[in-house]
Amino acid sequence: DKNAIRVSANSASGIFYGIQTIRQMLPIAGPNDQNAANLRLPAVKIVDEPRFGYRGMHLDVARHFFSVEEVKNYLDLMALYKFNHFHWHLTDDQGWRIEIKQYPRLTEVGAWRSETRIGHNRDEPAQYDGQKHGGFYTQKEILEIIEYADDRYITIIPEIEMPGHASAALAAYPQLACQPGEYEVAKDWGVFEDVFCPTEETFTFLQNVLTEVTNLFPSKYIHIGGDEVPKAQWERSRFCRRLIRRLDLKDEAGLQSYFISRIDTFLNSKGRKLVGWDEILEGGLSPNATVMSWRGEQGGIEAAKQGHDVIMTPNSHCYFDYYQGDPEQEPLAIGGNLPVQKVYEYQPIPSGLDAQAASHILGAQGNVWTEYIKNEDYLHYMVFPRAAALAEVLWSPKEKRNWPDFASRWEDHLPRLAKRNLRPAMQMFGLVDSIYLEGKEIVLDLHTIAREGKIHFERDSIDPSPSSPVYTEPITIKENTTFRAAVFRDEQQLGNVYRENFLYHQAIGANLAQEGLWSDSYTGGGAKALVDGRSGTLNHTDGHWQGYEGSRLNLTIDLGSVQEISSIDMHFLYHPDNWIMLPRRIEILASQDGNNYTSIRDVSYPAPRRETIAPRREKLSTIPPDAFRYLKVQAQAVPSLPAWHPGYRQKGWMFVDEIIFN
Ligand code: ACM
Repeated sequence: DKNAIRVSANSASGIFYGIQTIRQMLPIAGPNDQNAANLRLPAVKIVDEPRFGYRGMHLDVARHFFSVEEVKNYLDLMALYKFNHFHWHLTDDQGWRIEIKQYPRLTEVGAWRSETRIGHNRDEPAQYDGQKHGGFYTQKEILEIIEYADDRYITIIPEIEMPGHASAALAAYPQLACQPGEYEVAKDWGVFEDVFCPTEETFTFLQNVLTEVTNLFPSKYIHIGGDEVPKAQWERSRFCRRLIRRLDLKDEAGLQSYFISRIDTFLNSKGRKLVGWDEILEGGLSPNATVMSWRGEQGGIEAAKQGHDVIMTPNSHCYFDYYQGDPEQEPLAIGGNLPVQKVYEYQPIPSGLDAQAASHILGAQGNVWTEYIKNEDYLHYMVFPRAAALAEVLWSPKEKRNWPDFASRWEDHLPRLAKRNLRPAMQMFGLVDSIYLEGKEIVLDLHTIAREGKIHFERDSIDPSPSSPVYTEPITIKENTTFRAAVFRDEQQLGNVYRENFLYHQAIGANLAQEGLWSDSYTGGGAKALVDGRSGTLNHTDGHWQGYEGSRLNLTIDLGSVQEISSIDMHFLYHPDNWIMLPRRIEILASQDGNNYTSIRDVSYPAPRRETIAPRREKLSTIPPDAFRYLKVQAQAVPSLPAWHPGYRQKGWMFVDEIIFN
């Protein structure tokens, strides 16, 4: 009211969050600004409470080291958006970042790598920067950061990775591996075979490490990793084979379960609770362990049904190391595609859980893996606005969420962040398209959510500028067109350039009947995606590819009349990193009357080999011998991935973008 601001709450943290709300409502003014003495707030009453008790952000300081100051800055930003758990990923193959008094080599050796891979991990030939990278936090610094977080009502959950992601620890103490040898702190990214051996010596080591960790961190939860554990070293080890027999385990997966359960028992004896990535479910898990679901939602659903507490961090919605816009226009990232709107639309309680299971979903967390995030500016760019979107998902009632409203409020936050010299990603203010067919014409309709954003476009593969023609209404496309557009405000471009190549051909707008099902995740635009004039790029998430998981593509195109067609071109995506393979077999048939079909093409692609993992678009050209009206295309995705592939025996994906008639 006129005289005062009153904040009341059931707890001190509630008062703290009330103050964060006031901070967010205040006009933007630094201490030295003219208007700092003359701040105005509207008279309002806000009754508020968080929807979820666990509102987390994670930071990987192993792949790239972030200083004490940078971590504190991260905590400040978390507090402003009312996050209350910081998951600190302190150890990995590429660096051990926490001082352990009993094992000084962990930081003397394990905190430093000789050099770092340049470019993406899949770029060949491999190149390295020749620069030593590393760093670690002393126990004194750790305590200082814990206190700093505590002042902001943030609990820090430390993560010590085991039994995998252990290269840096093994470089320091190679006797903890099953195979003797020289281990080095990793300088590449990926999953490595160097894992802890489940010997008594290893358990003693890990218990001593965890004792120092629990002496530092008051958190109820201790994260022990548990993800991505290749079993090759255990399979080659006589010790492990004997241990499996002696413990009457089924296999190496059983050994992993035994490993986690030993650590679980130890942490419980210290009055703590174990948290791990969803792989810890494999082979059975003690009921008091908490599961972080990262490989999609499935692990979380399974765990909640089994009665485990769950923190949702699915890579589909919570991986802030994924691209948030067109990879060609973004700084190098690990892959994926996670625009902020998708984060905002996230539902942490998976559908289909009953009330009992749903009560085990504690909340969610944004994960920030830093293979490609080398400095704080890039970190902030990847985290904002996605963390703000997640903050609202975790705090606000589900019914209150409203994307345009969020976008508008976020615009008000931009000057606030600018005051901190923080440059968030701006893709949400770029262009969104809707494309539809009207007869044989393609109609392109563009939108922006930016206030006072003006759209300019070009048709000749040049990026638009503020002097390019202004877009005012949907554009009709009747020929091959390279179209580009962007949003501008005060001559400043907001977000990425919208780039789209339209291939105009004779099947555009043809009737298409399709059986067999594409995936809901990769629709390519839906029913007419394969004759909509748009082709995919090497980025499988570009929206143009239609994906089939292990299943059949079975479609019939009706041109409306018998026509002479000189060629039929299709492309398949090959991208084994993303489990996308060429079809096992494809057959094309043509008909004049829709009853009698003649096979005009029948191709089987050989099983791919490990050496050829570079992504490519595979072209299949067919020259039909006669005029036809109907065309059938039948293709079968690889039902089972080959032995060299990480997804061995699981379904392969088949991706197709367009069937081009010339
Ligand atoms: C993970 O992303 N490997 C948890």
